[in-house]
Amino acid sequence: MSDCRPCTTDNWPELERGYRAMLPEDVLAFIDANRTREHSESMLIATLHMVQGHYGHLGPGHLEAVAQLMQVPLAKVTGVATFYHYFRLQPRGKYLINVCLGTACYVKGAEKIARKLTDELGIRFGETSKDGIFSLESTRCVGTCGLAPVVMIGDEVHGPLTPSQIPNLLEGYLARAAEDLVGESAAEDR
Ligand code: FES
Repeated sequence: MSDCRPCTTDNWPELERGYRAMLPEDVLAFIDANRTREHSESMLIATLHMVQGHYGHLGPGHLEAVAQLMQVPLAKVTGVATFYHYFRLQPRGKYLINVCLGTACYVKGAEKIARKLTDELGIRFGETSKDGIFSLESTRCVGTCGLAPVVMIGDEVHGPLTPSQIPNLLEGYLARAAEDLVGESAAEDR
Protein backbone atom coordinates (compact mmCIF):
# COMPACT_ATOMS: atom_id res chain seq x y z
CA MET A 1 0.00 0.00 0.00
CA SER A 2 1.19 3.50 -0.62
CA ASP A 3 0.00 7.08 -0.32
CA CYS A 4 0.93 7.90 -3.91
CA ARG A 5 -1.64 9.95 -5.77
CA PRO A 6 -3.21 8.23 -8.78
CA CYS A 7 -2.48 11.12 -11.13
CA THR A 8 1.24 10.35 -10.80
CA THR A 9 1.02 6.75 -12.05
CA ASP A 10 1.25 5.73 -15.73
CA ASN A 11 -1.00 2.73 -15.27
CA TRP A 12 -3.75 4.62 -13.43
CA PRO A 13 -6.62 3.40 -15.71
CA GLU A 14 -5.74 -0.19 -14.88
CA LEU A 15 -5.34 0.57 -11.17
CA GLU A 16 -8.57 2.53 -11.13
CA ARG A 17 -10.47 -0.45 -12.54
CA GLY A 18 -9.11 -2.59 -9.71
CA TYR A 19 -10.00 -0.06 -7.03
CA ARG A 20 -13.49 0.47 -8.47
CA ALA A 21 -14.07 -3.29 -8.37
CA MET A 22 -13.51 -3.18 -4.59
CA LEU A 23 -16.35 -0.77 -3.85
CA PRO A 24 -20.13 -1.02 -4.35
CA GLU A 25 -21.93 0.94 -7.07
CA ASP A 26 -23.59 3.46 -4.72
CA VAL A 27 -20.23 4.39 -3.19
CA LEU A 28 -18.65 4.80 -6.63
CA ALA A 29 -21.56 7.01 -7.71
CA PHE A 30 -21.16 9.11 -4.55
CA ILE A 31 -17.42 9.52 -5.08
CA ASP A 32 -17.91 10.34 -8.78
CA ALA A 33 -20.63 12.89 -8.03
CA ASN A 34 -18.36 14.70 -5.60
CA ARG A 35 -15.11 14.26 -7.52
CA THR A 36 -14.73 17.92 -8.38
CA ARG A 37 -15.43 19.14 -4.84
CA GLU A 38 -12.88 19.55 -2.11
CA HIS A 39 -13.06 16.32 -0.09
CA SER A 40 -13.90 17.44 3.42
CA GLU A 41 -13.59 15.07 6.36
CA SER A 42 -17.39 14.83 6.53
CA MET A 43 -17.50 13.56 2.92
CA LEU A 44 -14.82 11.03 3.72
CA ILE A 45 -16.78 9.89 6.79
CA ALA A 46 -19.97 9.61 4.71
CA THR A 47 -18.12 7.49 2.14
CA LEU A 48 -16.68 5.19 4.80
CA HIS A 49 -20.15 4.80 6.33
CA MET A 50 -21.50 3.68 2.97
CA VAL A 51 -18.69 1.15 2.51
CA GLN A 52 -19.18 -0.22 6.02
CA GLY A 53 -22.95 -0.35 5.47
CA HIS A 54 -22.32 -2.57 2.47
CA TYR A 55 -19.57 -4.87 3.76
CA GLY A 56 -20.13 -4.68 7.53
CA HIS A 57 -16.56 -3.51 8.12
CA LEU A 58 -13.71 -1.55 6.53
CA GLY A 59 -10.91 -3.80 5.33
CA PRO A 60 -7.45 -2.56 4.27
CA GLY A 61 -8.44 -2.91 0.60
CA HIS A 62 -11.56 -0.80 1.11
CA LEU A 63 -9.51 1.95 2.77
CA GLU A 64 -6.97 1.97 -0.03
CA ALA A 65 -9.66 2.03 -2.73
CA VAL A 66 -11.40 4.98 -1.03
CA ALA A 67 -8.08 6.82 -0.66
CA GLN A 68 -7.11 6.30 -4.27
CA LEU A 69 -10.49 7.05 -5.83
CA MET A 70 -11.06 10.13 -3.65
CA GLN A 71 -7.43 11.14 -4.10
CA VAL A 72 -6.97 11.52 -0.37
CA PRO A 73 -3.79 10.25 1.34
CA LEU A 74 -4.25 6.73 2.71
CA ALA A 75 -2.88 7.91 6.07
CA LYS A 76 -5.80 10.35 6.35
CA VAL A 77 -8.40 7.71 5.44
CA THR A 78 -6.89 5.24 7.91
CA GLY A 79 -6.70 7.96 10.57
CA VAL A 80 -10.42 8.73 10.22
CA ALA A 81 -11.38 5.03 10.18
CA THR A 82 -9.42 4.33 13.36
CA PHE A 83 -10.39 7.54 15.19
CA TYR A 84 -14.17 7.10 15.12
CA HIS A 85 -15.36 4.18 17.24
CA TYR A 86 -18.31 3.44 14.95
CA PHE A 87 -16.01 2.26 12.20
CA ARG A 88 -15.23 -1.43 12.33
CA LEU A 89 -11.90 -2.56 10.87
CA GLN A 90 -12.52 -6.28 11.24
CA PRO A 91 -15.44 -8.40 10.07
CA ARG A 92 -18.05 -8.94 12.76
CA GLY A 93 -17.98 -12.37 14.41
CA LYS A 94 -20.74 -14.97 14.19
CA TYR A 95 -22.07 -13.81 17.57
CA LEU A 96 -22.12 -10.17 18.63
CA ILE A 97 -21.80 -9.81 22.40
CA ASN A 98 -23.22 -6.54 23.70
CA VAL A 99 -22.47 -5.79 27.34
CA CYS A 100 -25.05 -3.43 28.80
CA LEU A 101 -23.32 -0.53 30.54
CA GLY A 102 -26.54 1.31 31.35
CA THR A 103 -26.98 2.61 34.89
CA ALA A 104 -28.90 -0.35 36.34
CA CYS A 105 -26.41 -2.85 34.92
CA TYR A 106 -23.44 -0.73 35.91
CA VAL A 107 -24.43 -0.55 39.58
CA LYS A 108 -25.04 -4.32 39.58
CA GLY A 109 -21.51 -5.09 38.37
CA ALA A 110 -21.48 -4.76 34.57
CA GLU A 111 -17.87 -3.64 34.73
CA LYS A 112 -16.79 -6.98 36.24
CA ILE A 113 -18.76 -8.83 33.56
CA ALA A 114 -17.05 -6.75 30.88
CA ARG A 115 -13.61 -7.49 32.34
CA LYS A 116 -14.32 -11.21 32.51
CA LEU A 117 -15.43 -11.21 28.88
CA THR A 118 -12.31 -9.41 27.68
CA ASP A 119 -10.16 -11.84 29.70
CA GLU A 120 -11.95 -14.95 28.44
CA LEU A 121 -12.05 -13.87 24.80
CA GLY A 122 -8.62 -12.22 24.75
CA ILE A 123 -10.00 -9.23 22.88
CA ARG A 124 -10.96 -5.66 23.68
CA PHE A 125 -14.23 -3.90 22.98
CA GLY A 126 -14.70 -3.33 19.26
CA GLU A 127 -12.66 -6.42 18.36
CA THR A 128 -13.49 -9.89 17.04
CA SER A 129 -12.02 -13.11 18.42
CA LYS A 130 -9.36 -14.81 16.26
CA ASP A 131 -11.71 -17.71 15.47
CA GLY A 132 -14.27 -15.23 14.12
CA ILE A 133 -16.95 -16.47 16.54
CA PHE A 134 -17.37 -13.48 18.89
CA SER A 135 -17.33 -9.70 18.53
CA LEU A 136 -17.45 -7.63 21.70
CA GLU A 137 -19.29 -4.34 22.02
CA SER A 138 -21.08 -2.34 24.68
CA THR A 139 -24.49 -0.78 24.69
CA ARG A 140 -26.78 1.30 26.91
CA CYS A 141 -29.93 -0.05 28.54
CA VAL A 142 -31.50 -2.83 26.50
CA GLY A 143 -34.78 -2.50 28.40
CA THR A 144 -34.43 -5.46 30.76
CA CYS A 145 -33.07 -3.65 33.82
CA GLY A 146 -34.84 -6.14 36.13
CA LEU A 147 -32.31 -8.75 34.91
CA ALA A 148 -29.25 -6.54 35.50
CA PRO A 149 -26.40 -7.03 34.86
CA VAL A 150 -27.30 -8.06 31.35
CA VAL A 151 -25.38 -9.23 28.31
CA MET A 152 -26.95 -9.64 24.88
CA ILE A 153 -25.53 -12.27 22.56
CA GLY A 154 -27.10 -11.91 19.16
CA ASP A 155 -30.72 -11.17 20.02
CA GLU A 156 -30.74 -13.25 23.22
CA VAL A 157 -30.64 -11.53 26.63
CA HIS A 158 -28.71 -13.13 29.50
CA GLY A 159 -29.05 -11.94 33.09
CA PRO A 160 -28.61 -11.50 35.88
CA LEU A 161 -25.05 -12.66 35.27
CA THR A 162 -22.03 -13.12 37.48
CA PRO A 163 -18.46 -13.20 36.14
CA SER A 164 -18.18 -16.90 37.03
CA GLN A 165 -21.03 -17.72 34.64
CA ILE A 166 -19.26 -16.21 31.63
CA PRO A 167 -17.07 -19.22 30.66
CA ASN A 168 -20.11 -21.55 30.52
CA LEU A 169 -22.12 -19.00 28.61
CA LEU A 170 -19.39 -18.70 25.97
CA GLU A 171 -18.97 -22.47 25.83
CA GLY A 172 -22.63 -22.81 24.93
CA TYR A 173 -22.24 -20.51 21.95
CA LEU A 174 -19.00 -22.18 20.88
CA ALA A 175 -20.83 -25.52 20.90
CA ARG A 176 -23.62 -24.01 18.80
CA ALA A 177 -21.09 -22.61 16.33
CA ALA A 178 -19.44 -26.04 16.07
CA GLU A 179 -22.83 -27.70 15.46
CA ASP A 180 -23.61 -25.17 12.73
CA LEU A 181 -20.28 -25.91 11.10
CA VAL A 182 -20.95 -29.66 11.12
CA GLY A 183 -24.43 -29.03 9.67
CA GLU A 184 -23.04 -26.79 6.94
CA SER A 185 -20.34 -29.26 5.87
CA ALA A 186 -22.88 -32.10 5.89
CA ALA A 187 -25.15 -30.04 3.62
CA GLU A 188 -22.21 -29.34 1.28
CA ASP A 189 -21.41 -33.07 1.03
CA ARG A 190 -24.95 -33.90 -0.10
S1 FES B 1 -29.39 -0.67 32.23
FE1 FES B 1 -28.92 -2.63 31.46
S2 FES B 1 -30.84 -3.36 30.79
FE2 FES B 1 -31.31 -1.39 31.53
